[in-house]
Amino acid sequence: MISDRMLEALNKQINEEMFSAYLYLSMSAYFELQNLKGFANWMMVQYKEEVDHAMKFYHYINSRGGKVKLFALAEPPSEWSSPLNAFEETLKHEQHITKCINDLVDLAEQEKDRATFNLLQWYIDEQIEEEENDNEILGKLRLLGEGGNSIFMLDRELAQRKYIPLAQGKE
Ligand code: FEO
Repeated sequence: MISDRMLEALNKQINEEMFSAYLYLSMSAYFELQNLKGFANWMMVQYKEEVDHAMKFYHYINSRGGKVKLFALAEPPSEWSSPLNAFEETLKHEQHITKCINDLVDLAEQEKDRATFNLLQWYIDEQIEEEENDNEILGKLRLLGEGGNSIFMLDRELAQRKYIPLAQGKE
């Protein structure tokens, strides 16, 4: 059985992941309007991955016999001052999610919940990758500057990102 405290925290994390999805979908729409199709694609893939992250918690709660509870989603921002600004905000948001995951790990330890502790190891690794990806793109944006040519080059690169669905426990 999963403890009430752990269950509530995991349900809140579903909301965090779904908000992340919402935020990146909003960024994808922002890039579409700027005609930056590659950036829009990158954010659309990110949106789908965030839904997968939420669903991984969803299936896990079900498999432990817990009750999934969905909370209201906050409205995400819809405007950023530049691609650089959008990626700065993306990194900031992922750093917040990393803290959420670390707090969940602390709670799993307090509750002596080994199964949840195990599950969270996947999210710890995922967060390393998330922050690394954002830092890489931020580095390029800063190095190349935000002139038309460099943005066009980066847009072509970001168009290559493909969505790979995450294998889930139970559908
Ligand atoms: Fe699900 Fe981007 O953290």
